[in-house]
Amino acid sequence: DLSKTRNNIVFGDGDPKADIMIIGEAPGKDEDDSGKPFIGRAGKLLDEILFSLHLDRKQIFITNTIKCRPPENRNPQKNEIDACDSLLKNQIDIIKPKVLVLLGRIAANTILNNDCSMNDLRKKMHTENLFQIPIYVLYHPAYLLRSPSQKKHLWEDLKILQNFIDNGYITH
Ligand code: URA
Repeated sequence: DLSKTRNNIVFGDGDPKADIMIIGEAPGKDEDDSGKPFIGRAGKLLDEILFSLHLDRKQIFITNTIKCRPPENRNPQKNEIDACDSLLKNQIDIIKPKVLVLLGRIAANTILNNDCSMNDLRKKMHTENLFQIPIYVLYHPAYLLRSPSQKKHLWEDLKILQNFIDNGYITH
């Protein structure tokens, strides 16, 4: 249904052979205008997050749970998530990342097929999953822009992810 109101499909961007794949929620206005994921304000914060992990966009692949912008940036609905589900799973199968980083609860609940809160999802590698790929959940950058006081938790979360990337395992 969203194809009727979108301007561009936001398929994904980056290295199709990336070891790290990042999945956000849904395209916003800037993404809908350009066809590229995470290029608006949330994207700038994502760039800073990547920088703090000593990564840049060319090394990773970024996409979203759904590929078309929902009107007024409302949350994606279940039928819209279902409509993009096989596309997203095919992207993961083709890219075969070594770690999947999910931004926010919608991406996490979709990929992990659960209804857990961010507090339950954060700070651990989710190894039991359909894809048999370690999965790590971070706060969505748009949420952090709305609630800057939560950024201190992001830095704690990033230390664990950095450790995993550096060593291939989690020490916490
Ligand atoms: N928020 C998202 O979840 N994805 C984007 O591409 C941009 C903002």
